[in-house]
Amino acid sequence: MSAKIINGKEISAKVRAQLAEEVRKLEEEQGTTPGLAVVIVGDDPASRVYVNNKKKDCAEVGIYSEEYALPAETTQEELIALIDKLNSKTDIDGILVQLPLPKHLDEKAVIERISPDKDVDAFHAQNVGKIMIGDYKFLPCTPAGVMELIRECGIDVCGKECVVIGRSNIVGKPMAMLLLHSNGTVTICHSRTKDLKEVCRRADILVVAIGRANFVTADMVKEGAVVIDVGMNRLEDGKLCGDVDFEAVKEVAGHITPVPGGVGPMTRLMLLKNTIAAAAR
Ligand code: GUN
Repeated sequence: MSAKIINGKEISAKVRAQLAEEVRKLEEEQGTTPGLAVVIVGDDPASRVYVNNKKKDCAEVGIYSEEYALPAETTQEELIALIDKLNSKTDIDGILVQLPLPKHLDEKAVIERISPDKDVDAFHAQNVGKIMIGDYKFLPCTPAGVMELIRECGIDVCGKECVVIGRSNIVGKPMAMLLLHSNGTVTICHSRTKDLKEVCRRADILVVAIGRANFVTADMVKEGAVVIDVGMNRLEDGKLCGDVDFEAVKEVAGHITPVPGGVGPMTRLMLLKNTIAAAAR
């Protein structure tokens, strides 16, 4: 039997309407409009697309946004000075510095300079620590989007075998933490994992975030498993594809996310959710 396709676009439309309603309420009850500052340095084409999407997403739910597009040769001091200015700007609740930054800039120092109260990416060490102890202010956008998709599909994580492939600070590690907070039994796999196929086959919920096209094949998936594909790979012919061999795995899985149209739309919304949470405080 073929898997149920998790339609991220459809689910995100519903969540977007809820967020727009929250923005409206904030304005009515507290007289405040959430504000997001998006900082982009240089002219990376993919980053430009992401930033344009973020501005569009904000406008759709009524969040005020400002863009700061800096030239590639911006110095560390100039960028830090901008972060300081945004930290104290009262109409700005969230600050997002689009990554990657040009090589000469120190990404870590920039992230740590953002006020933890405005860190809507949840990349600041203080927010990462809060995620670890289950006391979150902001949730990292991709893992939070995955959890919303799982919840919206009526899947209960409690007691399930959860396997996360990938251990990045942005996706894999926080993803594992959120599944753990939902009482899943969590395993994190990576490039040095032995018997990856066998570990994956144990999973009731398999989240894949490694950035390798079609890496997860049908023989790695248990019958009826929930397969969440965080991958976003550009093939030579220009097409987008995930980390999961969708056509083959959908014949084995119980639920599966497509790429595009799965995790991506939910990830985008979680940034808005964090910005609204920052403004509501
Ligand atoms: N570049 C790619 N993904 C992201 C993200 O989630 N946040 C930021 N700031 N930059 C990114």
